Amino acid sequence: MTATDPDTRVGRELLRFPPDFLWGAATAAFQIEGATAVDGRGPSIWDTFAATPGKVAGGDTGEPACDHYRRYASDVRIMADLGLRAYRFSLAWPRIQPTGAGPVEPRGLAFYDRLVDELLAHGIQPVATLYHWDLPQALEDRGGWRDRDTAHRFAEYAALAHAHLADRVRTWTTLNEPWCSAFLGYGTGVHAPGLVDPRGALEAAHHLLLGHGLAVRAMRSAAPADHRFSLVLNLCSVRVDHDDETHRAAAHKVDGLQNRLFLDPLAGRGYPEDVLAETAWLGDWSRVVRAGDLEAVATPIDWLGVNYYSPTRVAPAPAGQVTDGPFAGLRGVALLPPRGEVTGFGWEVDARAFTDLLERLGRDVPVPLVVTENGSAFVDVVAGGAVLDTGRTRYLVDHLRAVHAAIARGVDVRGYFAWSLLDNFEWAAGYSQRFGIVHVDYATQVRTVKRSGHTLAGVIRRNAVPA
Ligand code: NOJ
Repeated sequence: MTATDPDTRVGRELLRFPPDFLWGAATAAFQIEGATAVDGRGPSIWDTFAATPGKVAGGDTGEPACDHYRRYASDVRIMADLGLRAYRFSLAWPRIQPTGAGPVEPRGLAFYDRLVDELLAHGIQPVATLYHWDLPQALEDRGGWRDRDTAHRFAEYAALAHAHLADRVRTWTTLNEPWCSAFLGYGTGVHAPGLVDPRGALEAAHHLLLGHGLAVRAMRSAAPADHRFSLVLNLCSVRVDHDDETHRAAAHKVDGLQNRLFLDPLAGRGYPEDVLAETAWLGDWSRVVRAGDLEAVATPIDWLGVNYYSPTRVAPAPAGQVTDGPFAGLRGVALLPPRGEVTGFGWEVDARAFTDLLERLGRDVPVPLVVTENGSAFVDVVAGGAVLDTGRTRYLVDHLRAVHAAIARGVDVRGYFAWSLLDNFEWAAGYSQRFGIVHVDYATQVRTVKRSGHTLAGVIRRNAVPA
C-alpha cells in the first residue's frame, strides 16, 4: 500500500469483483493523438468544427492534444505501471481512409500497428472503437450521417480496419455514443458538424445504427470465432421527484428518445412506436427506414458498452410545451438542472443512478455489459509532482461500489474502463475540463499519475474496492 493510495487501505472490508473482471482505461483518437496533419491523415468534422470561431472553448483544436501519436510508447508504459489489463482506444477513420472511402492510407494504419504491438508487448488487451466522432470531412460534405451512404462507407471502413488488425485485436466496438453523434452533432449543433436540424438528427440516428449493424455483419463474416463485437451507448438514468403518473410519463419520453430509440432496434423490436409518434412532426420515418434495415440493425452483438457520468433530471411540463436541446420534439417534458453534489464540470454526482441503470439494462439487454466509460472532471493542481484529486478519487470509488452493487444484484457486468487515461480535448469544452486519471501538462507534455490513478491501480491489484 502506498501513501497515495488511501482509499484502498488495508483493514476495510473489500467488495470483490468477479475473477476475470476486465479493468482498463479509455481514450479516443481525436481527443489525445494530436498530429492531425501528418502521415496522410485527412480532415475530420472535428478539425473543421474546432477551426470555426466560437465553437470550441478557448479556440482549442485537436493540436497538440496529448501528442499521443508520438508518445504512445511511453503512454503504454504508464498503463502497464497502473496495472491496466485492457485499453480502450479509437481508430481515427480519417487516418485510415482520409476521405472516408477508397484505399487505405498505410501510414495511418501503421500507427495502430505500433500501438497495438506495444500494448500486447505489455500484456494489455486492446479494445478498439471504430468511430469516436471523427467523421472524415469529405463524407460530411456529402451529407454525413444524414446521408444513408455513410452507413455503407462505415461498414466498408470497419471491414478494412478489422482485416488489418484481426490477428492482434479480438475486441471491437463499432460506434461510441451514437446518441451524441446524432442529437448533439445534428440536433443542437454543440458538437461537430454543428448543425441544428432535429429531423436530420433522427435520420442520423438511424443511419448510425444501420452502419453499426452492417459493420458487425461485415467484420463477423471474416472474423475468427473468438472475436467480440459491441456498441457503446450513453444511456440515461432518468430521475424524477415524484413517483406519480405525470412524472413517470415525462421520464418515459426521455428514456424513449435516449435509451429505447437505440435499445429496441438493437434487440430486434424495431423503433419504439411512442417515440416515433412523439417525433412524427419531424418527418416521415418510413422514408428513412428501408426494407431490411431493421434486420441489419439487430445483427447480434456480444456485449453492450455503457458510458455513465451523471443522471438526467426531468419533470412534467405543460402539454403544449415542446423541448428544444437534445430532446427536441418531446412535448410536456421539462429538463431540470443538476442539483446536490456536482463535479467541476457541473455534472450531478449520483452513483445510485448508475446502479439503477445497470440493473435496468441487466433486465432489458440480453448480452453482458461492460462499463466502457465512467469518470469526472475537476480542476487539478500539480504540487510537488503529485495531483491530489480527492473529488475525482471519491467519484471513482463511489461509482466502482455502484458497479459492484449491480453485480451483487445479479447484473452481468464484465469490465470497467475509467474515462479517461489522460486529460484530453474535451470536445466543445476544449482543454478546459480534465477527466484524466493521469494529468497532462499540455505545454510540456509531462504526465503525472493522479491520486485517482493510484487508487484505480490499487483496486486493480486487489480486484476489489473498499466497502
Ligand atoms: C463521453 C465521450 O465518449 C467522451 O469522448 C467524452 O470525453 C466523455 N463523455 C466526457 O464528456
